Amino acid sequence: MSEDTAELEARLEEQDEFEPPAEFVSQANVSDDSIYDEFEEDWPECWERAAELLDWDESYDEVLDASNPPFYEWFTGGKLNASANCLDRHLDERGDEAAIEWVGEPTDEENRTYTYEELHREVNEFAAALKELGVGEDDVVTMYMPMIPELPIAMLACARIGAPHSVVFAGFSAEALATRMESADSEYLVTANGYYRRGDPLDHYEKTREGLGDVGHDVSDVVVVDRLGEHGHGHDLESNERYYRDLVDEQSGAEVEPVSRDAEDMLFLMYTSGTTGQPKGVKHTTGGYLAWTAWTSQAVLDVKPEDTYFCSADIGWITGHSYIVYGPLALGTTTMMYEGTPDHPERDRLWEIIEEYETTQLYTAPTAIRAFMKWGSQYPEQHDLSSLRLLGTVGEPINPKAWKWYYKHVGDESCPIVDTWWQTETGGMMVTTLPGVKTMKPGSAGPPLPGVDAQVVDPNGDEVAPGEAGYLTVQKPWPGMLRTLYQNDERYIEEYWAEYSDTQSDDMDDWVYFPEDGAKIDDDGYITVLGRVDDVLNVSGHRLGTMEIESAIVGVEGVAEAAVVGGKHDVKGEAVYAYVITEDGYDEDDEMRSRIEEGVEDAIGPIARPEQVVFTPELPKTRSGKIMRRLLEDIANGEELGNTSTLRNPDVVEDIQRKVGGD
Ligand code: WTA
Repeated sequence: MSEDTAELEARLEEQDEFEPPAEFVSQANVSDDSIYDEFEEDWPECWERAAELLDWDESYDEVLDASNPPFYEWFTGGKLNASANCLDRHLDERGDEAAIEWVGEPTDEENRTYTYEELHREVNEFAAALKELGVGEDDVVTMYMPMIPELPIAMLACARIGAPHSVVFAGFSAEALATRMESADSEYLVTANGYYRRGDPLDHYEKTREGLGDVGHDVSDVVVVDRLGEHGHGHDLESNERYYRDLVDEQSGAEVEPVSRDAEDMLFLMYTSGTTGQPKGVKHTTGGYLAWTAWTSQAVLDVKPEDTYFCSADIGWITGHSYIVYGPLALGTTTMMYEGTPDHPERDRLWEIIEEYETTQLYTAPTAIRAFMKWGSQYPEQHDLSSLRLLGTVGEPINPKAWKWYYKHVGDESCPIVDTWWQTETGGMMVTTLPGVKTMKPGSAGPPLPGVDAQVVDPNGDEVAPGEAGYLTVQKPWPGMLRTLYQNDERYIEEYWAEYSDTQSDDMDDWVYFPEDGAKIDDDGYITVLGRVDDVLNVSGHRLGTMEIESAIVGVEGVAEAAVVGGKHDVKGEAVYAYVITEDGYDEDDEMRSRIEEGVEDAIGPIARPEQVVFTPELPKTRSGKIMRRLLEDIANGEELGNTSTLRNPDVVEDIQRKVGGD
């Protein structure tokens, strides 16, 4: 390291506040601080500003209908179509511009560009194909697809005909696919025969078939994208299965009139993990969600039509839905998609892509930044990243060190960073700095967005003093919010509202949304999110339920009981630690360990694979029989243990500690 660099590092290390770069501010979509007051004074009408970013077939009567909290309705009476907003309305001015720039993982293959014209054409053709298969308005279509352009095409085709989509992350297991299809009563599936991972063509068809075998109802049609071509695994399709390309070719030139959807009609379902073993079907609707993703893309990601914007998330998660597909396309920009991993063929793949496409914004996860940091700054340094104007992170807390590395080695100290806190349920960003307005404080996401009323409270719901840890809550509804959990209004109230609301009241002011995150707030109103306070883990920015993992482990032959907690991990943020009690007659050996790991992969997917499986004769339990998870977490983190006197069986702790320590 040269002396200059060392000085620079030292300076950055000391600095805990960063002003938005002047050059950025001068061109920012939002650069006036007065927006915070304006939105507060004009709430909820301020959200018309978001609705105005969309084209409405019929304008709405009311911005917010809060007559039946927490079942809020936004832009009631309004009608619109999401696919028309993401495609048709851009054709005149941007028809020849790129809508999607897709980069496949293999480097010897051609990348694909879809102009708005081309994307519009293929979405129409596939919408026609879906209709011909019998998909009607409000039928849920499941997608189990990797990062290929056919995924957003299928989503937009569904949106066009008013069929909600339910995208299941391709890395999830066959079993996870089956439970989600069943829960959503979904009779249609769009999938792919495979995709590339670190150079290998993965067989996704086999897994799909396995999942379909477990669905309790009839699945009428399956559409398969032939992603692998000659590298496919030689499967023949079943009688209810068709190749995507054949269907689209049959509909060549077809046009499908976009269905005018009610603002409150469901746009999609997205399953996510919660406290219980059953994934929750989060329901998002058309008007509020689209307005929210468009507005936040514009205000926070500073998206402009002429940008080449890159979010490296997977569309199988909410970040990809909101900030690869709907937000950017609603604004008519160019959105990028990358199929593979950032270290294939080399650890500079992302930087190579950014240089080649002259990417203007990069939105990624702290776990990726920590991996880049570990690999070293020589990789971004090999490339010209000067096209970048803004950087963003999402999904988990970012530590100041990783933030500063990102700021310096990727952004060259000239790009603001937005650390955006939000959730599957919130539809889009909630807490973050506006990049053209606010000072950045590494490690803290920032103040709530204008018009968002978030607070940090104690267990009684009273605001905590600055610097004290408490619970993050949202005091007012917002357009992008989930509307309910699919066919389970009761659980919706139970999971998100019961904690801090007067659930008997029909006054909006008595209802408070609880995202189940811990947080603290500083004197300037900046919120630092500390992580989940429920039994949800955040592994590499992926949300996983401990109960789901535990039930997968208990399903393995020879396992009597299991407890899963998160342990700190340098790159992944959190890693899965599994404490397992075996049944009599089963050996606590490597064979058992691999069967447990496989059991978790089969039930959920490789992302949930335990980092460590610790066999123990007993679990630390309170006298009332509750597993002491905190204690297990402390053990996983190698931390000093607090008071164990409430334990029924204090001896067990030492035993487990020894095993985790590896002796
Ligand atoms: C966590 C992802 C700290 C949080 C969009 C939340 C964050 C969960 C941040 C939602 C952030 C997300 N700082 N923590 N900037 N962003 N989280 O539903 O615990 O997959 O509740 O949505 O991720 O995860 P989900």
